[in-house]
Amino acid sequence: MNPKTLELLNSINANFGLNLEPVIEEFNRSSISDMTEEQEFQLLTMAIRPLIEVEPDYTYLAAQVENAKLNLEVMRTIGLTDNADECVAFIDMIHFGVENRRLAPELISLFDLPRLAEQIRPERTELLTYLGLQTLYDRYLCHHNEKRIETIQGFFMRVAMGLSIQEDDPTTRAIALYHMFSSLDYVPSTPTLFNAGTLHSQLSSCFLLTIPDDLYGIYGRMRDNAMLSKWAGGLGNDWTPVRALNSYIEGTNGKSQGVVPFLKVANDTAVAVNQGGVEMFEIKVSAQEQDREGISPPHVLMPKEERKLWILRWIKEHKEMSLSFPDRQAVEEYVKATGVRLSGNGECSDLKTCIKEMVQAKYIKLEYIRKTCQIAYGEKKGYYAYIPDIVWIGRKESKKMKGLQEGAYVLGTQWADGDSREPWAIGYFAGVSSTGKYKIRMETGKISEHEFSVCKEITQEQAQRVLNHKNKINDSPVSLWKYIDSKEEQLLQHKELLTSKGVQVTHIVAIDVGSCIGKDNQLQWDVKPDMKRFSQMTSGHVILMGRKTFESLGRVLPRREHVVLTRDEEYAVPEGVTVAYNLEQALNSCLGLIKRKDLPKNIYVIGGAEIYNMTMPLADKLEVTHVQTHVKDGDAFYPHIPKDMQSTSWVNYKEDLETNTPAYSFATYEYVK
Ligand SMILES: NC(=O)c1ccc[n+]([C@@H]2O[C@H](COP(=O)([O-])OP(=O)(O)OC[C@H]3O[C@@H](n4cnc5c(N)ncnc54)[C@H](OP(=O)(O)O)[C@@H]3O)[C@@H](O)[C@H]2O)c1
Repeated sequence: MNPKTLELLNSINANFGLNLEPVIEEFNRSSISDMTEEQEFQLLTMAIRPLIEVEPDYTYLAAQVENAKLNLEVMRTIGLTDNADECVAFIDMIHFGVENRRLAPELISLFDLPRLAEQIRPERTELLTYLGLQTLYDRYLCHHNEKRIETIQGFFMRVAMGLSIQEDDPTTRAIALYHMFSSLDYVPSTPTLFNAGTLHSQLSSCFLLTIPDDLYGIYGRMRDNAMLSKWAGGLGNDWTPVRALNSYIEGTNGKSQGVVPFLKVANDTAVAVNQGGVEMFEIKVSAQEQDREGISPPHVLMPKEERKLWILRWIKEHKEMSLSFPDRQAVEEYVKATGVRLSGNGECSDLKTCIKEMVQAKYIKLEYIRKTCQIAYGEKKGYYAYIPDIVWIGRKESKKMKGLQEGAYVLGTQWADGDSREPWAIGYFAGVSSTGKYKIRMETGKISEHEFSVCKEITQEQAQRVLNHKNKINDSPVSLWKYIDSKEEQLLQHKELLTSKGVQVTHIVAIDVGSCIGKDNQLQWDVKPDMKRFSQMTSGHVILMGRKTFESLGRVLPRREHVVLTRDEEYAVPEGVTVAYNLEQALNSCLGLIKRKDLPKNIYVIGGAEIYNMTMPLADKLEVTHVQTHVKDGDAFYPHIPKDMQSTSWVNYKEDLETNTPAYSFATYEYVK
């Protein structure tokens, strides 16, 4: 070993006090004569590396040897002497980078370089492990003609400068950022490290694109993918809107080849656009069930060696979505009975962007569209259709409507928002209301309570056609409207019953910042004061819960009457627990228990998600513990708190590090009259 190399090794090791014998032994065994300094450093690193597994501290020794090699490479590339001081050399690094069009000229024009150089702390490179330093060397440091042109600390300062260009006092800001980065308190993500302070300072990663269902859109997004992967990475594509295999294409009167052929082109684009040799491309795909057969094995599109595009999720669209429907079975029956397809042909392709209640609203809307269009078109299907001759759909008709004579025979509709529960009425035009809506006098003489956004004169014959269709539709076997109406009616009856007995319903729940209440049928936090509050509030009361929550409790809680909802008629429970097979039974059991055992007239609903959802319209009060945490991948959520409810009490509690308790608040929500 060259005495200079040995001296360096000893000086580095002075900080670590590691046994150098095995290092030197291995070095000597593998060395050959006339090695350059760089080759010696390399061999030295190789001799140290295997020792890391035995004694982890060798990682810092290897990192420092690697760093010495890096510094040598940088100083020689930018034209300084081998042992130039890193702080002084920093100014030369920036000049060299700008002159060779690697770095932005603003790094010279906007910054006080000598002041920055004074702040460089070469000793902080000792914080890096070998793997960390090696990764920076291989992937992140600026290079010119395949030679690194910045040291580790120079790199941190360059990134800090890049992020401070727009600041009022760039130098001061860069210094503050540099100290954060170099002490590893905070390190930005890859595109920032790559690009800050360079000539293309694109600092973001992770882009999610939705692919539209038309050729311009599809290829437009592929171009976007290409450009994004040139300068950044982490791409996610959502292919769900693209129509499925065998869907109808109106323009050509043909059938679609589905999403798979497009995925192949997207994959090839990803292969073709190489991001500076760095593998960072990923596409998430969720698409239609119908296309699934085109992919084998299902989760991987391409043979391994040329695969860039990964199918991360394949949504069984309507099954997966229906999990969030209020009643999955009803929706599925509806889908089956009406033959509505949930994807393809654009019929309902925006469904996937909806959540929970929105999905339900979309179904209502869809049924509305179907009904209205069927009236106009008879059996012909055309969902985004206009309805010529009979009724207007579309704002441009509004001028014509102004000319309507009172008493004209009209069909009125509320198409404008499409969510109307009363889509049309036939009668005599009775003027315009103060809110600008059209009033219709019905055959009975009554003016329709529903004022219509649009109405159009029609003939008696057209009216007859409409009415014929209306009867036909109302006789159809499943109607989500009817279903929802009947549910609402039932709930109203339940509420009336409870009110007549003077019994209140209170939810008691703990939720995280995203309304999550649990995961894998378990609570995801341990907030003892919340448990205590739960126990105090519910003690001596009837508690109503779903079967899963009952099981998650793992025992019968003392001093409380349990009513458990399940659809399983054979579900066995310990003595003293009451089982109910539907909400009506459950409420009756609660009322029976309150009466028999003379309990307070307040039913505590204690969860979980299904039961909270179902009983929210019955709740008079919500006792909510807001836990300041975020549960990752939670699978049970509390429904939205109704808009008319307001918090009537709110107390905050701080985080307790000793007991590992996150911050939380106790809140009470009530209807405020
Ligand atoms: N953070 C909190 O304050 C809190 C409180 C409670 C629960 N949780 C969490 O919530 C999660 C459990 O919630 P979950 O929604 O999955 O389950 P859940 O609401 O506790 O129970 C659902 C079950 O209730 C029964 N059920 C629902 N509707 C019914 C009806 N109309 N008629 C008859 N039975 C009916 C069904 O039982 P069968 O399947 O037996 O038919 C259903 O599977 C867990 O993670 C738990 O830790 C959190």
